[in-house]
Amino acid sequence: MAVLPKPRGPLSEALISALLRGGDARPVEVGPGDAEDAALSLWILYELSYRGYDGIDDRLEFDPELVRVRRTLEDDLEQRLRERWPGCPAYEPEQGFAAAFFAMIEADDGPSLARFVQRKASVEQAVELLKHRSLYHLKESDPVALTLPRLPAAPRAALAELQYDEYGGGRPERLHAHLFAEGMAAMGLDATEGGYVDEAPLEVLEQNNAMSLFGLNRRLRGASVGHLAAFEATSSLPCRKMAQGLERLGLPPEIQAYYLEHVEADAVHEQVAVRMICEPLIAAEPDTEDDIWLGAWSCLDLEARIARRLLEQWGAA
Ligand SMILES: [Fe+2]
Ligand SMILES: [Fe+2]
Repeated sequence: MAVLPKPRGPLSEALISALLRGGDARPVEVGPGDAEDAALSLWILYELSYRGYDGIDDRLEFDPELVRVRRTLEDDLEQRLRERWPGCPAYEPEQGFAAAFFAMIEADDGPSLARFVQRKASVEQAVELLKHRSLYHLKESDPVALTLPRLPAAPRAALAELQYDEYGGGRPERLHAHLFAEGMAAMGLDATEGGYVDEAPLEVLEQNNAMSLFGLNRRLRGASVGHLAAFEATSSLPCRKMAQGLERLGLPPEIQAYYLEHVEADAVHEQVAVRMICEPLIAAEPDTEDDIWLGAWSCLDLEARIARRLLEQWGAA
C-alpha cells in the first residue's frame, strides 16, 4: 500500500483530509490552482485504483465527490496533452503503421537521461533519478494492464503475452516491479510504492498521471497502447546505457540487473507492442489510430520534459 503524500497546496490538502475523514460529502473545490497541486491531487486519487492507502476506506475509489474531482483534473490533463500534440504524422498507406511508428521514434531527438547517467552523472544524481523513476517502476505495467479487457481479441492476446513477461512469467520474484524494488533496497533506498512521491517534480507526476488516465478510461485505450509502444521502443538502448552508468558509479548489481533485464526484453516488447497490439487494434477499430499516435507522442514528450527539467537542474542541459 502507498503512503499518503504531503500536500502541495489547497486542493491536495482538502483531498487528503477528505480521504482521512472517510470522504464525507463536503465538496472539494477545484480552482484554477497551481499545476503541481493539481498533479499531485490527481496522483493521490489514481492511487485509490491501484493499491490504495493504509487506513483509507477502499470504497472511496468510487466516491461520487472524489470521482467528480478526478474527472475535472483528468479532463484538464487530457486537454493539455492534446494541445501539445502536433497531430498524427502523415504516412503513405503502403509504408504501413509500423514503419511510420519506428520512423517517429527514430526522429525523436529529445534529451536522454540514460546517456547522461552512462557518461557523467554523479551518484547523487543517479540516486535522484532512481527515486523519481520508482514512482512508475514500482507499479510497472499496472496502468496498461487496466487496458487489457478493453481490447479486441488479437491485441488483447498480444498484450497479455507482453504483460506475462512484465509480471514475471508466473514467478513473483521476477516481476519487473519487484526487480526494481530489490535494486532500491540494495541501494539502501525506500522500496515502498510512492515512497518518494514527495520529491517528485511536476513532470514526473504528470508522466505517471498520463499513464493512469489512458489506462483507466476505456475510450482512451488507443492512447494507452500507443504510449506502451513508444515506451517499449525507447527502452532497450537507454536501459543498456543506464546499466553501464550504474556500473561506472559502482552501484549495486541488483539495480543494474533491473536495467539489464530490459535490454533484451524490451527489444522484443517493442515489436509485440507495435506489430501485434497497435496494428491489429487499428485493423479492428480504425477510430483508435489517432489516439495511438497521441499516446505515443505524449510518452516521448513527457519523458523529454522530465529530462530537460533534471538536466537543467544539474547544470547539464
Ligand atoms: Fe518491464
Ligand atoms: Fe517491457
